[in-house]
Amino acid sequence: MMDLVTITDVGPRDGLQSQQTQVPTEGKLRLIQALFDAGLPSVEATSFVSPKAVPQMADADLLLPQVKVPAKARLSVLVPNLRGLERAAKAGATEISVVLSATNTMNRKNIAMDLSVATSTCVTVLEQAHKLGLASRAYVAVAFECPFEGPTAPARVLELALRMCDAGAGEIVLADTIGAASPVQVQTLLSALLGHIETSRLGMHFHDTRGMALANAWAALELGVRRFDASIGGLGGCPFAPGASGNVATEDLVLMAQQCGFATGIDLQGLLRAVALAQQMVGYPVGGHSVRWLRRADPRAETLNQ
Ligand code: COA
Ligand code: ZN
Repeated sequence: MMDLVTITDVGPRDGLQSQQTQVPTEGKLRLIQALFDAGLPSVEATSFVSPKAVPQMADADLLLPQVKVPAKARLSVLVPNLRGLERAAKAGATEISVVLSATNTMNRKNIAMDLSVATSTCVTVLEQAHKLGLASRAYVAVAFECPFEGPTAPARVLELALRMCDAGAGEIVLADTIGAASPVQVQTLLSALLGHIETSRLGMHFHDTRGMALANAWAALELGVRRFDASIGGLGGCPFAPGASGNVATEDLVLMAQQCGFATGIDLQGLLRAVALAQQMVGYPVGGHSVRWLRRADPRAETLNQ
């Protein structure tokens, strides 16, 4: 049986949060639907953050109740504090993500908390989410390099990831927020974590700032990681992390995984429809490296869809 790679499309959240043009709620709903139609098993839909911090996500309370989640699929939402959790629960969330940056400065810039307050806030939110019966993901952001403090020590990431595990996080997502990692750094970080955290609980979140996201994903695949975040069309970038560009494009990651013998359950032609929709939403050309190739009338495209 083929090994399954599980991809969470974070485009509607990570991809749209930094867009200058306000995308209408209706458009976001169509994009999420197109992702589920393409077979995505998991989508991060929005964030319940301060509308002053991220105006693009101000419609989270309206959007979430309108999303139709297929049976067996997952829909997560990002929450930065207990206020966000309350809003998310009220809107019907079944899974939440918390974001803990590995450095003091990044936490201050992103959520106006120092590292220790950010850690205890994430612990409290995870514990409360568990009590409410919600599933959870915990990002460890700037896990490789911080735009303000430089390279991140793997020991720091391990310590924070273990705190998140103890607090009940179902999935620990190691985020290369600014796209600064290389495959060898992925090996180094994962080697530091794998003896302590089950591989099945780890996910990777790569940004493609320097074109190394796919190589980094491959390094993680080789070490047994099977959960990845990606963003349709490569949309994205954190507004609080200078230099961050979009996530690895979902279509690129799916193409690589499928061509290398992994199952994803995702249909590449369906992803192309979602890329076209994402482009319509943001108003400029988007798409991963593979899009032009996939769009060609290529007989191999049929096989790749299997
Ligand atoms: N949802 C909506 N509003 C919120 C909120 C939430 N989860 N948490 C706080 N607020 C509101 C407060 O009510 C307050 O509103 P007011 O000015 O109208 O009174 C305002 O935001 C400031 O509240 P405060 O607790 O002082 O927050 P802060 O200014 O220290 O900001 C965060 C902290 C976490 C709310 C803010 O930094 C944030 O939302 N960051 C998210 C960043 C992000 O999404 N990054 C990208 C993803 S990694
Ligand atoms: Zn990101």
